[in-house]
Amino acid sequence: MPYTLNDLAGDIKDIVQTNKMPDDSEKICHFVSKALMDPSFVLQNLPDRKEGSSPREILYEDAQTGFCICGHVYSTKAIGFPHDHGSSWAVYGQASGETEMTDWKIIKDQPDEGVIYVKPNKTYIMKPGDVHFYSVGDVHSPVRKAPVRLLRIEGVNLDNIQRSNIKAEV
Ligand SMILES: [Fe+2]
Repeated sequence: MPYTLNDLAGDIKDIVQTNKMPDDSEKICHFVSKALMDPSFVLQNLPDRKEGSSPREILYEDAQTGFCICGHVYSTKAIGFPHDHGSSWAVYGQASGETEMTDWKIIKDQPDEGVIYVKPNKTYIMKPGDVHFYSVGDVHSPVRKAPVRLLRIEGVNLDNIQRSNIKAEV
């Protein structure tokens, strides 16, 4: 039986309704990985984008709890700067291609200036099926040197979340 978007949404909803993040993030990661490893799920939910359209698509937004399942499809390289997700957690899952992800360590948080200073902590490659949880405030930067397809689960729709002002010290 193929694993569908509805299945994934229901499984995540069961978790976020009854558990607190980040303690049960592993459970969400399990189901995201299950979706990524299902070729029909990837084919159906992460198709090529039309010329000029956004790489990001909200596939599902939960009206009760606010979490979102998003598909990101990049047809060319995509270099991300260090960022957090404001007050939201997120799960990144690689469907195809590779992401070189760097986690950053906060070295100075200057609330007066409104700036968070970071330095690189570790870099790792995310391959198809790999899933990673980023808790509230975790700073990371993705580098995609070739086309990729991803799933991203957001605790709340990140379109409506203010990100921190982050400066890298390398
Ligand atoms: Fe991110």
